[in-house]
Amino acid sequence: MDDEMFDQASLERLQREMLEEARKIYSEKVIDHWLNPRNVGRIEEPQGVGRATGICGDTMEMTLRIRNDRILDINFLTEGCGTTAAVGSMTTELAKRKTVQEALKISSKDIIAAVEGLPPEHRHCADLASITLKNALLDYLENRREPWKLSYKK
Ligand code: FES
Repeated sequence: MDDEMFDQASLERLQREMLEEARKIYSEKVIDHWLNPRNVGRIEEPQGVGRATGICGDTMEMTLRIRNDRILDINFLTEGCGTTAAVGSMTTELAKRKTVQEALKISSKDIIAAVEGLPPEHRHCADLASITLKNALLDYLENRREPWKLSYKK
């Protein structure tokens, strides 16, 4: 029991130390989306799917549910690090409830501004999120033009 309590206390101390270190580099927004990522997962039978691989080799996927050209739901998955997850999460929040045309204009600059900045070595994470979103939106537009192809993509 004592060992368990010690382990729990050590774990909590380690987490506190990690957060203190992270706060020296990242904004509270990044840390919030890193610890509590929104819209994680994959939408069943999506109307648009986008995937992209960043310059670091990390991949992201976004899936869309759209009605009357407005994004009702958007999910993301990534194998990347906490920063990648944080910007993926923020990007889904930025895109939700926007029209397709509005969402197509979301740039990596917008994402970086929304998370209140990223260190230079992690700005490419925002590029990955914005490219993934665009790929999902372009896929939706293609599916709308040629809906008979959708079932072959699943
Ligand atoms: Fe690779 Fe963030 S570290 S996309």
